Amino acid sequence: MSHDFDPITNESNNEHFQDVLARALGNPSRRSMLKGSAGLATMLAFPMLQGCGGGGGGGTASTGVAGTAAGASSLPALPTDSTMKFTAVQNNILDQITVPPGYNVQVLHATGDTLNASAAAYTNMGTETGESWAQRVGDHHDGMELFYIDANGKSQYKPTSKAVLAMNHESSADAHFLNPTGQTSGGVTGKRWSQFGGTSGYDGLERPGNEVLKEINLHGISVVELTMDANGKPTGYNPTSALNRRVTPQTPAEVHGPAAHLSDLRDLMVTRFSPTGATVRGTLNNCGHGPTPWGTYLGCEENWAVYFNIPVGGTAPTDAKMITSRTRYTVAAAPFLARSTTMPAVNYGQGWYTPTDLPDTDFRFSRWNVAASGASAREDFRNEPNTFGYNVEIDPANPASVPAKRMAMGRFAHEAAVCSLPVVGSPLAFYMGDDNRNDYMYKFVTAANWSAADIGGGMAAGNKYLNEGKLYAAKFNDDGTGQWLELNISNSAIKNYSKFAFANQAEVLVHTRLAADAMGATPMDRPEWGAVNPANGEVYFTMTNNSVANRTPLSTNAANPRAYADPDGRMGTGNPNGHIIRFKEAGGLSTATTFTWDIFVFGAEDDSAANVNISKLTRSNSFSAPDGLWFSYSTGICWIQTDDGAFTDEANCMLLAAVPGKVGDGGQFVVANTMTTPTPSTAAQRTFVGGILGESRLRRFLVAPKGAEVTGLTETADGKTLFVNIQHPGENTAALGTSSDFTYESQWPSNGGGVSAKYGSGKRPRSATLMITKADGGKIGM
Ligand code: FEO
Ligand code: CA
Ligand code: CA
Ligand code: CA
Repeated sequence: MSHDFDPITNESNNEHFQDVLARALGNPSRRSMLKGSAGLATMLAFPMLQGCGGGGGGGTASTGVAGTAAGASSLPALPTDSTMKFTAVQNNILDQITVPPGYNVQVLHATGDTLNASAAAYTNMGTETGESWAQRVGDHHDGMELFYIDANGKSQYKPTSKAVLAMNHESSADAHFLNPTGQTSGGVTGKRWSQFGGTSGYDGLERPGNEVLKEINLHGISVVELTMDANGKPTGYNPTSALNRRVTPQTPAEVHGPAAHLSDLRDLMVTRFSPTGATVRGTLNNCGHGPTPWGTYLGCEENWAVYFNIPVGGTAPTDAKMITSRTRYTVAAAPFLARSTTMPAVNYGQGWYTPTDLPDTDFRFSRWNVAASGASAREDFRNEPNTFGYNVEIDPANPASVPAKRMAMGRFAHEAAVCSLPVVGSPLAFYMGDDNRNDYMYKFVTAANWSAADIGGGMAAGNKYLNEGKLYAAKFNDDGTGQWLELNISNSAIKNYSKFAFANQAEVLVHTRLAADAMGATPMDRPEWGAVNPANGEVYFTMTNNSVANRTPLSTNAANPRAYADPDGRMGTGNPNGHIIRFKEAGGLSTATTFTWDIFVFGAEDDSAANVNISKLTRSNSFSAPDGLWFSYSTGICWIQTDDGAFTDEANCMLLAAVPGKVGDGGQFVVANTMTTPTPSTAAQRTFVGGILGESRLRRFLVAPKGAEVTGLTETADGKTLFVNIQHPGENTAALGTSSDFTYESQWPSNGGGVSAKYGSGKRPRSATLMITKADGGKIGM
C-alpha cells in the first residue's frame, strides 16, 4: 500500500533527534534518508534506536528521547505555533458532531453492530438477546488502537493492506436503552440505574437473566477488521471477518505474574469456579488502554469494584485484611441494608448476581455475589474481586489467544497504560494512573530489555516483558521534582505498615493502593489517561477533577494546586475543571527513580476569574475535565478529550489539539486559591505551569453530541484518518417509565448530526466510532 512521508516542516526543533536516529540506524545521511522516495516510515517496521546513551542506558538528557513508541510509523517533529492550521470550533450544545471546515466525519460502527454472520442486524429497539451481545460491538466505546497485520498474521504498526481496530467497551450505564422499556428489577420495568449507586442506583431486587446477560456481554473488548481502499484509507469494517472478536467478562483468562510470587497470587484468586486460582474470567470496565511495542493491546480495568454485591442477609467477610482492602477499593464489604422497590439504592452494583430465571451456568450470575457464604474461599466468590483491577493483555491478531491478567503491573482503577519510547537493549516503562479521587500515579519497569525481534510476538512477548519488573508509585515534590517509590515487600514502610499486614509481594501487587499509601505517594486529582510525547519522551497525564471533600485549600499541593468554587456554581468546589500534568524522567531513562514535572494547562471556563482561568483560555479553547489524552505519532500534536459536567450549559464534551512544548518552558506561576473555608494554611500555592496556551497552541477541534463523552483516539499510520470514540450520547435521558418510547436528550447518530450519513435504525442514542478525514486528503490537524 502507499505510504507518504511528509517532509518535516520545522527541522530546527527536530534536528538533533533526527540526527541521533540516523546515526542509530547506521545511516550517515539523515537528509538522504528523509528525502528517499521510500521514506522513513516504510524503511522502518517499528523505528527505534539502539541504545544511544552508552552502556545500554538508553537515551540521554540532552536528547531527552530514545526512540519512537508503539503506534509510530514515522517520527514527528515537536510541533510549533504554526503546526495546527484548522479553524477552532466554537462551544455549542447541539446534538451533532461539530468539526472545523474542511473535515469529513463518518461512523465506523456503533453499539450493537454485528461481528459475525450469526448475529441479526441491530434493531436499536432493545429486542436483542443477552447471548447475542457477545457477537456484537459492545457499548460505551473507550480506548482503542489500530494494528496492522503482516503477511504472517502478526500484529505490528508498519502499514499493510490489513488492519484491525481493538477497542474497550467500558460500561453498562446506558443499558436502559438496550431493553424495550428500560431496566427491570423486582418485576418493575422502565427503570434506569447506575452501578455507582446514589439516587439512580440499583434497588437490590431480582432482575431478569436476559437483561443481565446483555449488560455482562456488552462489556470488555472488541476487535474488528477494517476495510480499506487501494490507498490504505479505511472505508468501514468487515462484519464477517475471521479476525473479529469479543472478549467479555465471561471469556476465560489466565493469571500471570512474577514467577516467584505466582503461587501466592493464585492463592488470592481461589474461587468456587477455580479452586487453583489459575483461571479467571474476563475483563470489566475497560477504560483507557495501552498499545505495547510488540503489537498487543492492554485493556485497562477501571471501575471494576462497583459490580459486586453482598445480598440482603448475606454473610459479610470477617477477615480484617479483606475488609480493609475492600474498603480501600470500594468493593462491597457489607450486605445490602434492605431491598426496596423504589430508588435510591443502598449499595453499589447492578444486581448481576440475582437472576434465577436462567441457568447459572459456570456461576455466570452468582460470581458477582461476594459474600463469604461458604466454609472457605473455594466454596464461594469472596475472592472474585481480586481477579479484577489489572491490565489485561490480548493479541489483536489472534482471536484464539487467551487474555492474560498482568498482575505485576498492580491492581487499582487502571485508566491507561502508556509505554516509554522503546530503546533496544533497555527496559520499557509503562506509566499508569489510578482514577480515583486522591489516588496515585504508577509506573512499571520491565525486567527484560527491549528487543525489536519481539514485534509480532503476541502473548509470548507479553509474558517476557509484563510478568517480571518493578512497580513504583509517584511522589511529586513541591519544588518541581519527583520520585518513584518502589512498591516492594522488602521496603520497611510496606513490611511494617500499621494499617495492613502485608504477608508477601503477591499481596503488594493485589492490594497496591495500600502499599502506595504506606510509601507516601502523592494524592492526585483523579489521574485519567496518559500519553508519551513521541518527539521527546516526556509523559503527560490528565487530572480530570476533584471534589471539595478531597481537595481543599488545606490539602492542595504543588502538583494539584487549585481549590476553588466553580464560577457558575454547577459543579461545587474543589478542582472542578482539572488540569494536565507532565514530567520528564531523569536522564530520559525508563529506569529513572526521579523526574521533573510541571503543569501543562489548567481547565477552566473562559469567563472565570484570573485565579481560576490560570491558562488564560478563550472561547476557542476553554475546556473542563480533561480525560482522554493521546499524541499523534504522525504529527506530534497532543490531543485532549473531555468528560465534563462543569460547563454543559455552554458546551458539550470536546476534543482539543495542543502544541505540547517541553517540561519547564513556561516558568513559575502563583495559584491563589479562592476558597476561604476552610482557611487555607497558605494563602497561595506556588506551582509550575507550562505556559499560557494561546489559540496557536491549544484549539478546539470537535464538539460531541449532547450528553456524550469523547473517549478513544487512534490514527492510520499516515496520520490521515483519525478515529475518535463518542461514548454515551444522550446519557441524561431522564424520563423513563413503561411508555413505548423515551424522552431523548440525544438521538445521535441515527439523527445524522454532523456525520456524512444517518447511521442505523431507530431513535435511541448509541456510542460510536468516528472516522475523520480531511477533504484535501492531508494529515489531521495540520
Ligand atoms: Fe473511565 Fe476514568 O474514566
Ligand atoms: Ca460560564
Ligand atoms: Ca476516562
Ligand atoms: Ca460551570
